Amino acid sequence: MMPFPATRLRRLRGSGTFRGLIRETDLSPAHLIMPAFVTAGEDIREEIPSMPGIERYSISKLVEHAAEVAAAGIGSMLLFGIPADKDEFGTGAYDDEGIVQMAVRALKEAHPDLAVITDVCLCEYTSHGHCGIPDPDGKIQNDLSVELIAKTAISHAEAGADAVAPSDMMDGRVGAIRYQLDEEGHSEVPIISYSVKYASAFYGPFRVAAESTPSFGDRRGYQMDPANGAEAVREAEQDLEEGADMLIVKPATPYLDIVRRVKDATGAPVAAYHVGGEYSSLKAAAEKGWLDERAAVLETLTGIRRAGADAIITYYAKEAAEWLQ
Ligand code: PBG
Ligand code: ZN
Repeated sequence: MMPFPATRLRRLRGSGTFRGLIRETDLSPAHLIMPAFVTAGEDIREEIPSMPGIERYSISKLVEHAAEVAAAGIGSMLLFGIPADKDEFGTGAYDDEGIVQMAVRALKEAHPDLAVITDVCLCEYTSHGHCGIPDPDGKIQNDLSVELIAKTAISHAEAGADAVAPSDMMDGRVGAIRYQLDEEGHSEVPIISYSVKYASAFYGPFRVAAESTPSFGDRRGYQMDPANGAEAVREAEQDLEEGADMLIVKPATPYLDIVRRVKDATGAPVAAYHVGGEYSSLKAAAEKGWLDERAAVLETLTGIRRAGADAIITYYAKEAAEWLQ
């Protein structure tokens, strides 16, 4: 590059037209996935205190909410279920009449064009709140948990889910899910794997929303250590070998280097999950008048795309899509 004064990088920043010509990263509603919480019961719409603007819906209200999400230009939702009852083995997760299974059927009937991705995990359904089944010492048993998680994924596919997203971080679950989906005639259902999921403080607001805070211990025995990067690439490669179609890195903003590394190392489709705590931090600052919410959110989402994310899962999806339209 020629040095100054021949080179003046400001020249192409001088007008909106020139800035538009050289803009590297685009952000549109097509890149966004809206998470949603469905709860057992009738006619329920309740605000989630830790995530202002996000609500839990019973099925009929979720169907109405989905119409608004679709009208904003969002093509897919990521569904989390909050069952009426929990037990030691999380049986509600793989019940064919469970909350997610019923919600998927209702959503697909009302909005066939809206893609429904289901979060596949046990933590919302277990009495202890862990993503798998603990042994008597409280250690989460990998292979038993994988069996139940695969069963959950199959029942979501049977209900009509367009994709399944295992978020438990057990080893080998993607392979088990892929094998069983294929056996059961669901070879076209993609697996969007939470491949790189860190043990993060930013999940706090979500656990209030999903009522999934562990009753003992923490998730560091299965979720990743925030200090590790090379391990993220190994997780991603392993999931791809097991049959994952798309990889999730989560959370997003503290891990943008990981989004980039995973994207560059694998070339696979990557989604970044802008999680509850990232959402709530922006909301809180905006409510206090400390941040221009719209500008800060669009800047954040653009940064996540620039880091290498093809898709972004964000509680801001609907609002951001409305701002972008
Ligand atoms: C459950 C799950 C979690 C999230 C998605 N699936 C939370 C956790 O592991 O505690 C996080 C979503 C968010 O924080 O917004 N396995
Ligand atoms: Zn879980």
